[in-house]
Amino acid sequence: MSIVKINVLNVPAEQREVLEQRFASRAGAVENSDGFEWFELLRPVEGTDDYLVYTRWRDEASFQAWMEGPMKAAHQGGADRPKPAATGNEVWSFEVVQQAAPKQA
Ligand code: HEM
Repeated sequence: MSIVKINVLNVPAEQREVLEQRFASRAGAVENSDGFEWFELLRPVEGTDDYLVYTRWRDEASFQAWMEGPMKAAHQGGADRPKPAATGNEVWSFEVVQQAAPKQA
């Protein structure tokens, strides 16, 4: 089954809006990558201040290929790159072992 890569972003409260805007303006940065299956930006509500960037991929190779190519373009802003909203990050890796979806009516 698929694999999940979650980028955990440490974002100060006053930078939340900036972060969300930056993601909103980068729509399309990952959708066309081979093996890409799902993306969600998860805003913390309780229990943590970290944002989770949830991504799901067909396999590890697809994710690695994205990381080595398109990911760099999706993340770089050139010389005038603004200061990141996030103060730090960490990547978590998972394998999907079980899943369910609602039954079709
Ligand atoms: C698991 C996969 C991902 C990894 C490992 C990753 C890596 C990173 C890292 C290290 C940062 C913080 C530092 C920086 O700004 O460069 C970041 C922020 C960001 N990433 Fe990603 N990313 C992933 C997925 C995505 C996806 C799918 C998108 C686009 C839809 C995206 C768009 C952004 C944006 C807009 C920021 C905000 C920069 C800021 O802090 O202002 N990332 N990512």
